[in-house]
Amino acid sequence: MVAGAGLFGLTVAERCARDLGLRVLVVERRDHIGGNAYSEVEPSTGIEVHRYGAHLFHTSNERVWEYVNQFTAFTDYRHRVFTIAGDRVYPMPINLATICAYFGRAMSPGEARALIAAQAGEVAHPANLEEKAISLVGRPLYEAFIRGYTAKQWQTDPRELPAEIITRLPMRYTFDDSYFADRYQGLPVGGYTAWLERMADHPLIEVRLGTDFAELGAAGNVPVVYTGPLDGYFGRAEGALGWRTLDFEFEVLAQGDFQGTSVMNYADEHVPYTRVHEFRHFHPERDYPGDRTVIAREYSRFAGPGDEPYYPIGTPTDRARLARYRELARAEKDVLFGGRLGTYTYLDMHMAIASALAMYGNRIRPRFLRQARV
Ligand code: FAD
Ligand code: NA
Repeated sequence: MVAGAGLFGLTVAERCARDLGLRVLVVERRDHIGGNAYSEVEPSTGIEVHRYGAHLFHTSNERVWEYVNQFTAFTDYRHRVFTIAGDRVYPMPINLATICAYFGRAMSPGEARALIAAQAGEVAHPANLEEKAISLVGRPLYEAFIRGYTAKQWQTDPRELPAEIITRLPMRYTFDDSYFADRYQGLPVGGYTAWLERMADHPLIEVRLGTDFAELGAAGNVPVVYTGPLDGYFGRAEGALGWRTLDFEFEVLAQGDFQGTSVMNYADEHVPYTRVHEFRHFHPERDYPGDRTVIAREYSRFAGPGDEPYYPIGTPTDRARLARYRELARAEKDVLFGGRLGTYTYLDMHMAIASALAMYGNRIRPRFLRQARV
């Protein structure tokens, strides 16, 4: 049995069915498969929208790339992000074009490095996130691009956030403004849902939607791969793990193009959202209507009970609880914990798939082959 039909659970289910010939029951709490990678077509425009936020596929892992290409082809989409700060727009992450535009003059890579190093020298021993960021990029770029965005992401003044939240900030002293450096990048040609459905499309796989693993009672003596929240499995006995969540405000607009790009960040604190997604730009190759578009404004906040957990926070309290949950998880007979929620770790799609393939190869396959011999 697999709890959760996200990319981790689907990968495990697909391998168990296709490679081992096992019958697999996948239970999924939501009314659709795919976890957070799920997308759907906005009916009045035909535009594919990502319900849980923009998902861009990227990997340098040959094994993962080969694996996913069994289920879908990918477009040659290359992700780029821009940010609005004050009344200007700049490319992200901060690169030489951003630095030259911000300071209003042409600089060589060496000149830009020297300028930033001088500005970053202001702080020697950072005591909070603000000081840490200044020690990495200097005060002007921090104030323009990082302070407001960070405050909105964490709903907290960066001076009150621990320095450890950031160890580095992406800074490039070239004009390269591609968002991901991975060898393989793109979006599924037929959309995410077609890809994810193909993974589950096997006679030995049964998917039961709208079914919470916790409500099934004892699973019997069936081995389980659990990809729901780790603390939830144990009834939060050691306390709740902290997550951030996102709210998306979708809107269909009566215009062909709202912002000219797929993702626009908003750096200023007085703009309440952190980003605006415009989904038509993920698929310039598609024949979308010219007079309507779909956008989603993204807001970030701490997850309360009942909210979708998105990003693990990982305070010292969280880490202490996590250590205790991991001990409980190890002692749980015939249950493997995996995925983003089951391990309390942020995973990109390719990482979730790689980790599921590793669990399958190292733990699941040997267990069933051993059983078959006995
Ligand atoms: P999930 O996708 O979360 O799937 C877990 C599933 O388990 C869910 O469907 C959930 O409903 C179900 N579940 C939970 N509890 C239970 C239960 N008790 N019983 C039954 N079912 C249960 N990755 C990228 O590579 N590129 C991106 O651009 C990208 N953008 C992202 C943006 C956001 C906002 C977020 C949150 C993630 C993004 N990711 C991105 C990461 C990507 O979504 C993850 O790799 C993927 O979600 C991991 O898959 P998973 O199966 O571990 O978890
Ligand atoms: Na099926």
